[in-house]
Amino acid sequence: MTALDGVRILDFTHVQSGPTCTQLLAWLGADVIKVERPGVGDITRGQLRDLPDADSLYFTMLNSNKRSLTLDTKNPEGKKVLEKLIGSCDVMVENFAPGALDRMGFSWDRIQEINPRIILASIKGFGPGPYEDCKVYENVAQCTGGAASTTGFRDGPPLVTGAQIGDSGTGLHLALGIVAALYHRTNTGRGQRVTAAMQDGVLNLCRVKLRDQQRLEHGPLKEYSQYGEGVPFDDTVPRAGNDSGGGQPGWILKCKGWETDPNAYVYFITQAPVWEKICDVIGKPEWKSDPDYATAPARLPRLKEVFDTIEAWTMTKDKFEVMEICNANDIPCGPILSMKELAEEPSLRATGTVVEVDHPTRGKYLTVGNPIKLSDSPTEVVRSPLLGEHSEEILRGVLGFDDETLEQVRSSGAIGEARREAAE
Ligand code: COA
Repeated sequence: MTALDGVRILDFTHVQSGPTCTQLLAWLGADVIKVERPGVGDITRGQLRDLPDADSLYFTMLNSNKRSLTLDTKNPEGKKVLEKLIGSCDVMVENFAPGALDRMGFSWDRIQEINPRIILASIKGFGPGPYEDCKVYENVAQCTGGAASTTGFRDGPPLVTGAQIGDSGTGLHLALGIVAALYHRTNTGRGQRVTAAMQDGVLNLCRVKLRDQQRLEHGPLKEYSQYGEGVPFDDTVPRAGNDSGGGQPGWILKCKGWETDPNAYVYFITQAPVWEKICDVIGKPEWKSDPDYATAPARLPRLKEVFDTIEAWTMTKDKFEVMEICNANDIPCGPILSMKELAEEPSLRATGTVVEVDHPTRGKYLTVGNPIKLSDSPTEVVRSPLLGEHSEEILRGVLGFDDETLEQVRSSGAIGEARREAAE
């Protein structure tokens, strides 16, 4: 039995943040019914296409293990179907622009009236406040949540990160809220609203930077390399380049081949308990007893020199050799892995973290599988659905429609044309 066996999700999500959440719930075993506009579907189906007429990787990689129902929820018949679905689902998840669900006629009050046990989970860009009505995409959240102002180099502009902390990060937060609300409902019998704002989600992931903002009031941030370089701090947390962000200083260092390979680098951490091993490995045994280098506080003003010296050693090895030597000595470090290397990494394939999936219109593709491993409920990744692939199956199987009712809904134009060939 899967962990969320028996939980049915009405998935009204689109683009990335909401679909990340419902994909996770589907991987954990929930029956996820993705509601999409007839003929159009989730906008990402057609975005960044690599193959003509096939659902994009953008869509396929965020919508595994779901069923697709096409439904025009602005059509009166479509609205009735949606009401029935709300009545038969445990959770409704949406990430429309603020107010869209109300405009569709489904306020929280109305939804509760239909099904008092339902959990309504929403992602918005901002929580209540001056920006609550704004539409938000990933990088807006990164910029307004504190990530961009603290990412990049001190002498350069703010930077966004490739990790989708605004969209996928908030989707993760929402999924946890939903699971907690389901647990609460088991105890109380009541549903509730779960909301996660992207700005809040990003700020949560940047909490160490709010930590540093407050530490700044009591003196310079000594683990930031600008401290050792004698650059004064102002009153806000600066961009820290590749500084570690924790109590153990680290930096990205060049390895053999860096001149031609943009990823021939390693992240090296000068963890204090293994400092003596580091000195031996890099050929600086005299640093073990030199008071300028022997202790972590003594090294803080000299981090640039320390890392330059370590780099002179890492440049004589490739990044995997550095990893091997350091691991054998218990020194924490990590090679900078390219997406190509990750896609080809056998151990990630073996654990189901990278999965190859077959799709009827696009053929084989790779996706990231469930990073959360449950010992009793393993995830089997199932390809994303074609638009409307399961419309009839859902209307009959979940809502119990007979031929006549189905025909009535179909002729109203509420579900459009289903793509049944996919199931064949
Ligand atoms: N049938 C009929 N209408 C439907 C429908 C369906 N099945 N599904 C959606 N719609 C309608 C909505 O009701 C809405 O109509 P309205 O504007 O007349 O009220 C319309 O489609 C568009 O929805 P909207 O959410 O405004 O889409 P958008 O493309 O303009 O904006 C976002 C996209 C992502 C910017 C916006 O949805 C948003 O800010 N979401 C919250 C934050 C978020 O999740 N952002 C990250 C996305 S990765």
